[in-house]
Amino acid sequence: MITLFENYDLMSEYVASSVAELITENPKCKLGLPTGDTPIGMYKNLVQFDLDWSKVKTFNLDEYVGIGESHPQSYHTYMNKNLFLHVNLKDSNKRFPDTEFDKDIKKMGGLDLIVLGIGHNGHVAFNEPGSSPTSSTRRVKLSKETIDANSRFFSDIDEVPKWAHTMGMKTIRESKKIIVIANGSDKWNILDKCFNGGLSKQRPASILQTHPNIEVLYAS
Ligand code: PGA
Repeated sequence: MITLFENYDLMSEYVASSVAELITENPKCKLGLPTGDTPIGMYKNLVQFDLDWSKVKTFNLDEYVGIGESHPQSYHTYMNKNLFLHVNLKDSNKRFPDTEFDKDIKKMGGLDLIVLGIGHNGHVAFNEPGSSPTSSTRRVKLSKETIDANSRFFSDIDEVPKWAHTMGMKTIRESKKIIVIANGSDKWNILDKCFNGGLSKQRPASILQTHPNIEVLYAS
């Protein structure tokens, strides 16, 4: 079930092509989009395609609580830098988790594709271990493991936000298609446990095993 890529560039090109294909086939598609290190290559490739993003709607998976949108480490800043500044996506079509998020996604007929990274503890978006498979978009406390992992982006671990808003497992599971991406040998263990092992709330990504249209990609 896990597709292996020879290297990160090949995986990034593949995911970018999948997203580009969807936008070409369905210019009004709704995309769930990730942040973090892993998707950077996907965005780099994606912005090279000559695509019309004017009717596309994007729904980011998560955002920190407690730092402003313009903070250098906010996911708003990340998205501006890696995607939004390079494509003709409308401001009103760029969404981050808020109180209307799930209702609006449902009204629009659900997401067509979600691209997801995976944390070392098996989290997807900021659905930390123990998250309910039926959880909705909500405010969550970040686990110590996530705070430690994300401290590499901040000058001091005390600056890492302790809370975030995340898309819930229910909305992720309801997406028509899911692509999970993982890069580097340090991610293999958790990826293997989540997608070749049993289902467990303690490893939220494992719940996605039962999705009818999921691709799990790994680059070593
Ligand atoms: P990463 O994060 O791509 O920066 O490794 C993935 C995640 O924690 O979801």
